[in-house]
Amino acid sequence: MNSKDIKERDSKYILGTYARYDLCIAKGKSATCYSPEGKKYIDFSSGIGVNCLGYSDDRWAETVSRQLRTLQHTSNLFYTEPCGELAEILIQRTGFDKVFFCNSGAEANEGAIKAARKYSFMKYGRGRYDIITLQDSFHGRTMAAITATGQEEYHKYFDPFVEGFTYAKANDTEDIKIKVSDKTCAIMIELVQGEGGVNNLEQDYVKELHRLCREKDILLIVDEVQTGIGRTGKLFAYEHYGILPDMITVAKGLGAGLPIGGILFNHNCSLVLEAGDHGTTFGGNPAVCAGGVEVLTRLDDNFLEQVAGKGSFLKAEIEKMEGVSKVTGLGMMIGIAVQAKEAKEVVKDALKLGLILLSAKDKVRLLPPLNITDDELKEGLELLQKALK
Ligand SMILES: Cc1ncc(COP(=O)(O)O)c(C=O)c1O
Repeated sequence: MNSKDIKERDSKYILGTYARYDLCIAKGKSATCYSPEGKKYIDFSSGIGVNCLGYSDDRWAETVSRQLRTLQHTSNLFYTEPCGELAEILIQRTGFDKVFFCNSGAEANEGAIKAARKYSFMKYGRGRYDIITLQDSFHGRTMAAITATGQEEYHKYFDPFVEGFTYAKANDTEDIKIKVSDKTCAIMIELVQGEGGVNNLEQDYVKELHRLCREKDILLIVDEVQTGIGRTGKLFAYEHYGILPDMITVAKGLGAGLPIGGILFNHNCSLVLEAGDHGTTFGGNPAVCAGGVEVLTRLDDNFLEQVAGKGSFLKAEIEKMEGVSKVTGLGMMIGIAVQAKEAKEVVKDALKLGLILLSAKDKVRLLPPLNITDDELKEGLELLQKALK
């Protein structure tokens, strides 16, 4: 099928909830993909931070295919090997205690919200249910996750929203201290806000939040859906801050292109959710988890160092570019504040030139595959400079 026919059929049958780019992607390898007509694109978006090993990585595809041919699904009524193996690696590489697997970032956050509320209920009784999140945060599209999302534009049309969420200003310790009350059971944050504009949380702010949570027995939940799985140059972004949260939520890159989500619990709250409290049919699916094992095996210390190196290189190169006023982010999660042009205009112009970018609020956002080659990086940067002008 050609691009025109694919787009026409899509518009006819698919609900119009996505403002799609004017591009059909037919195939790809590493950070390079092609339209059905063979036009080449360098992809600095990774399917919004998912394709951490790029398009159709051979080893990952082979591992998933082998598992699919062996055992594709059983439900959580049964034990299977891959989900335990993936959980074991996650625990051994982090210091958390237990893992729960689900299918997406929003679902992971839903589970974390439930766990925080039950933790508080069991210890302090009814009424200590409030969760503080940050302005400009993004936590997903389910009812609780969208309520947790601290952006007004998401809080239209769907009333009534879930009770018990309070929003605080990011990087403002005084504001969060005012918002904490005897009803607060958890604080949920992204360490670099992705959708909200690639805004970094400051070291001192995060350390103070961590201290405040310890002091008041409030659970600290770090949403690592976008920052996790090597994106920032460490396996998880919390490692940059010298803290161990009570829970982190993960998704995106762990599946490398297949749907997965997860919650990692530290010893403080790993026994809270019990049989019957939470679950999902597909969670811990063998094929997806086998792919996740391949992802984590590849993301060893050497690989993560390379991610950090590529992140620094990107940042330095972009800072030198004409039309850039500021570069934010961490590792290979990069936000660019642009002069003279709207971020969305830069994204559109880049696409015409053969470069796929993202935007986040008023910034251009880059989330390239973590294993992007040096040649692809250089080619993409040249196109980015042209698009920024
Ligand atoms: C920080 C963060 N949390 C949660 C989500 C929601 O993840 P999903 O789309 O997999 O539900 C996203 C998605 O972009 C995200 O960036």
